[in-house]
Amino acid sequence: MSYDTILVEQHDAVTLVTLNRPKALNALNARVLDELIDAFAAFEADDGQRCAVLTGQGDKAFAAGADIKEMAEKPMADFYREDYLAKWHSDFTNAIRKPWIAAVNGFALGGGCEVAMMADFIIASDNARFGQPEIKLGVAPGMGGTQRLTRAIGKAKAMEMILTGRMMGAEEAERAGLVARVVPQADLIDEALKSATTIAAMPPLGTMMNKELVNAAAEMTLSQGILHERRLFQLLAGTEDKAEGMQAFIEKREAHWKGR
Ligand code: HXC
Repeated sequence: MSYDTILVEQHDAVTLVTLNRPKALNALNARVLDELIDAFAAFEADDGQRCAVLTGQGDKAFAAGADIKEMAEKPMADFYREDYLAKWHSDFTNAIRKPWIAAVNGFALGGGCEVAMMADFIIASDNARFGQPEIKLGVAPGMGGTQRLTRAIGKAKAMEMILTGRMMGAEEAERAGLVARVVPQADLIDEALKSATTIAAMPPLGTMMNKELVNAAAEMTLSQGILHERRLFQLLAGTEDKAEGMQAFIEKREAHWKGR
């Protein structure tokens, strides 16, 4: 697939994907979704690629939301018949088992905030602004915003943001637990790539299973989650990478991962 709305680059084992509609503040239209699904499926399938970073072109926006111009004229029957937005969940979020980071450079609003929250974690530039302003358009978040924002920052703040459409700055977002780290805007991509490179150098199976386990915390009861964790720990104990990792520690040398 050739891409019109995103850019894809490989930095060794890290895939950098950039939303590339800066004139529309990287608004997410149907084409962007198809291209993102394709690019992330290629990342997932490529054994040489171990971690991805998603960011937005320009210094103003990660993504200012779903494309309002595309949604404005669409009748309700079409939204329902197409099961509009379902692919974000089934083909995008659920299909990516390798880790990826959202590097948020400016506005992450509506669907933009929701896509950022689909990432394994968010690194934000100091000018990042997060919000779910759908209420002002007469709709609601439709790609997980009411659920992921509430889990990330708690009911009080999520409810206030969603009912008023208020944006949250980077520092408040970090304090609230929405973002892992805030960095100066000029350093954002370097910092995100550095973090992704660190993750890419970890044992592959362990990385995927650790991601699965942290995500399970949002889906399972505590006792189910703890049992799932113990089982995956036991599974990892049978890998060659576990033997190598422990032997390398004892021999005071670097480990060489095989991914099995
Ligand atoms: C389509 C968009 C857009 C969007 C910005 N643009 N956001 N186009 N969809 N979501 C376009 C503008 O129309 C304009 O193009 C250009 O980008 C620059 O935007 P401006 O508004 O001129 O910039 P500025 O004055 O700096 O304001 C920035 C902004 C504002 C505060 C981010 O653009 C804004 O409020 N955007 C909408 C944010 C939003 O409501 N997002 C939620 C969408 S609904 P032209 O060609 O006119 O110059 C959503 C639902 C998700 O995401 C799932 C459920 C359906």
